[in-house]
Amino acid sequence: MPVRPILKYPDARLREKSAPVTAFDQDLRDLARDLAETMLSAPGAGLAAPQVGVTSRLIVVAGAENDEEFDDRVLVLVNPRLTRAEGEQFYNEGCLSVRDLQEKVTRSAEVTVAFQDLEGQPRELEADGRRAVILQHEIDHLDGVLFLDHLSRLKREIYQRRLRKLRKEEGDD
Ligand code: NI
Repeated sequence: MPVRPILKYPDARLREKSAPVTAFDQDLRDLARDLAETMLSAPGAGLAAPQVGVTSRLIVVAGAENDEEFDDRVLVLVNPRLTRAEGEQFYNEGCLSVRDLQEKVTRSAEVTVAFQDLEGQPRELEADGRRAVILQHEIDHLDGVLFLDHLSRLKREIYQRRLRKLRKEEGDD
């Protein structure tokens, strides 16, 4: 079951804090593969395990061409955490779990992320620009934080009103 359904805001499961990964086993590899396929088919630039209803600290990030950090199309980060964040940038974000919304969010300009690979080996990644934004966005998901939490209260309320209307039109409520 490679491609899994993506939970949509305001699903309460997106608000849970994910638990650290402790078992580097076949289940973890299966989950990482499913996350990668789900992200690529969406398509999206990143995806976190809680977005498919699994509250484990695991994210995947899509690679870019000519990118030495990415030996594959997708980088898998287990238990990722920011160990350095500097500067500021203002970047347009969207989220596979937040439909019909793209807004600018303030993020750190440069980050260092410590994580483990699928074998449990410690690794480190430095990023700036769009890659740094994606890493911060996905790590937020592991703590139940969505990019719209970084918007002003007014923008958030306007979106919530628009979403309620959309859902009503579609007969979801
Ligand atoms: Ni997201």
